[in-house]
Parts: sequence; C-alpha cells; structure tokens
Amino acid sequence: MDALLTHGHFPFVIDNLSLGSRQNLPYNVPFFEIDIRDSEKLAQVFDEVKPDCVCHQAAQVSVSRSMREPIFDAEVNILGLLNVLEQSVRVGVQRVVFASSGGVLYGEVATPATEDFPKRPISPYGIGKWVGEQYLEFYSRERGLQGVALRYSNVYGPRQNPHGEAGVVAIFCKAMFAGEVVTINGDGRYTRDYVYGPDVANANVKALETPLNQSFEAINIGTGVGVDVNEVAEKLSGLVQRELRNQGSSLQIPHWRHGVPRLGDLRSNLISPIRANHLLGWKPEMSFDEGLRETVIRFGLKSAQD
Ligand SMILES: NC(=O)c1ccc[n+]([C@@H]2O[C@H](COP(=O)([O-])OP(=O)(O)OC[C@H]3O[C@@H](n4cnc5c(N)ncnc54)[C@H](O)[C@@H]3O)[C@@H](O)[C@H]2O)c1
Repeated sequence: MDALLTHGHFPFVIDNLSLGSRQNLPYNVPFFEIDIRDSEKLAQVFDEVKPDCVCHQAAQVSVSRSMREPIFDAEVNILGLLNVLEQSVRVGVQRVVFASSGGVLYGEVATPATEDFPKRPISPYGIGKWVGEQYLEFYSRERGLQGVALRYSNVYGPRQNPHGEAGVVAIFCKAMFAGEVVTINGDGRYTRDYVYGPDVANANVKALETPLNQSFEAINIGTGVGVDVNEVAEKLSGLVQRELRNQGSSLQIPHWRHGVPRLGDLRSNLISPIRANHLLGWKPEMSFDEGLRETVIRFGLKSAQD
C-alpha cells in the first residue's frame, strides 16, 4: 500500500480481515470489508470504484490448512480469484497482478529455479496457485486483460503474518520477545529464499506499471540466495537479544531446540530473480541481515506495547 501511494496511485482495498488488519492501512485509503467469495458484494465494489488495475493478494495463505481443508482453500484461492477476474473483465480492468508462489510451484530445487522449471505443487495451496496462474493466462488470452503472476519466494518483514509460507521469521521473533523456547523442525537444514516484504511491494508496483510485450507473464520474485532455518534462528536470537537490552529488559532468550522433522518439508527451495530484472527492472534491494534487523525493531516495538 505504501509503495502504491508513493508511486502516485489511488488504491482502494478489499479484504475480509480474516488475517489482515485495518491498522496496516493509511486512514485515507478507501476500504471495503468484504469476502472475495461474495460475488454480489464484489460486483458492487467494482461498480463503485471502476479500477484500472487489480493487485490480487487476498488468499487462504496456509499450506497446512490447505492440506486439512482443500475445499475451503479452493473456494478462496480459485473461486475467489475467478470472482475477481470476472469483475475485472466486466468493468474493463487493464491489468491484473496475481500473487503466486515460486516456493510451492517448483518444489525441491538445489539451484535457483527459473520460470520454466517444472511445476510440482504438492499441496492443495500449491495446486491452487498453479491453477490460478492458468486461469489468469486464460483471461489474458481470451478476455482482453493483461495478467502478471508474481511467483514470490518466502516473504518476510515488519508486517509479516506468522500464518503464511515464510511464517518462521515472525514466529521466531514473537516467541523470542516473549522469552519462549523456539523449536526448529528436524535438523533445521532447510534452505529457503527469503525476500523482504517492501521489496515485494515494489515488484507489484513495477508489475502494474511496466509495459510488457505479452498479455500474460509469470515472473519470479525472490533473491536466489539460500538461508537455512538454523541461521535464521541464530541471527534473530542475536538481534532480539540486543533489542531487548535496548528496551532495558534483562530477559535472556533461551537457546532453541530441535523438534521432530515436519513431514514433506523441502530441503532446498530457491528462485531466480533474473527475469524480474530483465522484464520489470526489479531486483531485491534489502540484504537479509538488514531486513531481519528492520523486522526485529518492528516486532520489538509491538511486543513492548502489548
Ligand atoms: N508470505 C509469503 O511468503 C508468500 C509467498 C508466496 C505467495 N504469497 C501470497 O501472497 C499473498 C499475500 O500473502 P501474505 O503472506 O501477505 O498473507 P496475509 O495473510 O498478510 O494476506 C492475505 C490477506 O488476504 C485476506 N483474505 C483472506 N481470505 C480472504 C477472503 N476470502 N476475502 C477477502 N480477503 C481475504 C486476509 O485477511 C489477509 O489480509 C497471498 O496471495 C499469498 O498466497 C505469500
């Protein structure tokens, strides 16, 4: 939202607040509390606002919930997307940017996956993102929209929701500030590609604004750099301890422990940002160390207020 406003756009927001928070929005941004599954209310909002572009982020974001409740996952992530696409066509939206996921599409990859890597989604959430991309491509081909699917890697940052794919940074931060023992699944040697939220926001702005030759593009948004969960815990623990000291707290963060491995966790998942740079002129600006520092400061402020 901040990135859109900075770039001179006039956004409006639809969210059912199932996970989102009104506090993350500037007060002057028009907000509609509705569910994307509700096609009638969605139609009313699209009639009222008549947007030029849509940036579709709303989703059921939990991989594990998708395993337990695949129908619910599909209702939000597939039917909800179709509602958004139908309304977009009806009111003449020019471009739809869709939050897809490189993390769940490419599966186990030891080197950064490029967009043409085979797609191997293994959860209903991943299948939904892959199907969603194909619907977007269909609407781009047949219904006059331009579609851009952004395949994020693991997004983290100050406003991170601990329920999503990269929940580990937020979960560890929250637990450490509360002085709780962090549990790392298995041996923790699970390599992920962490991309900073505000960098992803900038990628969305570029995906909305940049002229593209094709009516549909799928573009990775990641760093291509791998960090394992043990490293995340170690870096966070140092940063949180320092932040606690700065707040005048004598709380000592307990050392993390290793629990049982989580079934189906990939050993390595990395995605290449080369195409994003080529097509959108985008590259990740924030280093992981600096991004973690910013995240810890924000979580620290929040935990001091709670
Ligand atoms: N966080 C990641 O690492 C990651 C990685 C890949 C893709 N994504 C995708 O990025 C997008 C944003 O995810 P996020 O991590 O910021 O999660 P988030 O929970 O912060 O954002 C999802 C938003 O969707 C809203 N929402 C959920 N169901 C809705 C419904 N039925 N109607 C209206 N609004 C609804 C929630 O209230 C929430 O505000 C999602 O599409 C997610 O699948 C996230």
